[in-house]
Amino acid sequence: MTAPVPHGADAPRAGLWITIEGGDGAGKTTQSRMLEEWMRGEGRTVVRTREPGGSEVGVLVRDIVLHHRGDIAPRAEALLYAADRAHHVASVVRPALARGEVVIQDRYLDSSVAYQGAGRVLDAGEIRDLSLWAAEGALPDVTVLLDLDPALARARLDADDKPFDRLESERAEFHERVRAAFLALAAAEPDRFLVLDASRPAAELAAAVRARVAPLVAPGHVGGAP
Ligand code: TYD
Repeated sequence: MTAPVPHGADAPRAGLWITIEGGDGAGKTTQSRMLEEWMRGEGRTVVRTREPGGSEVGVLVRDIVLHHRGDIAPRAEALLYAADRAHHVASVVRPALARGEVVIQDRYLDSSVAYQGAGRVLDAGEIRDLSLWAAEGALPDVTVLLDLDPALARARLDADDKPFDRLESERAEFHERVRAAFLALAAAEPDRFLVLDASRPAAELAAAVRARVAPLVAPGHVGGAP
């Protein structure tokens, strides 16, 4: 039997997979764009993607979980995110990694553990197991956690003119639980996580992210071969 590898039980390790996590309004999209630009400058082929909604099927699931008018039972919500994840990993992430590309992804299973586990108060271990089953055990090489006080995040979202989706509309206490859950996940897996104070300027955060991933794209590293 071969030893387990981060991208999943059977996958040969190629490519590099970076996920960006954090509460709503923490600046994930800005950081993934900046990282993408830098990686391209390094000559790497980049797939920038997200969950929910990183595949055609995922776009349909995203519409349900974010915009359905009315309640969705917590377990149904968890299964919808897991379904999106299963298809996304199988059809987008794994093929890109197998081609040796860099996958930069907004949100992954840590979001499910934080939002459906701590936020909706389902069992965090069960939610993680569900996601790992959906994704056949695939875990990213690096997860950047953009940590931000939900009150500050809320002020940022208010400043944007976009209407709130189902999750963003949850109460402050929900977002406090989500934040605490992300921090606990990061503390449990310090090798995978890079935790950054997301109230810092975007350029500083981007530099910290680059410092963490640069050794992984260096020639000779397993994820470093173009
Ligand atoms: P996101 O794409 O970050 O929203 P936006 O387009 O507004 O930046 O995420 C959508 C929402 O889905 C977000 O509130 C968190 C939630 N979510 C979960 O609850 N569980 C999950 O597994 C994932 C991936 C996201």
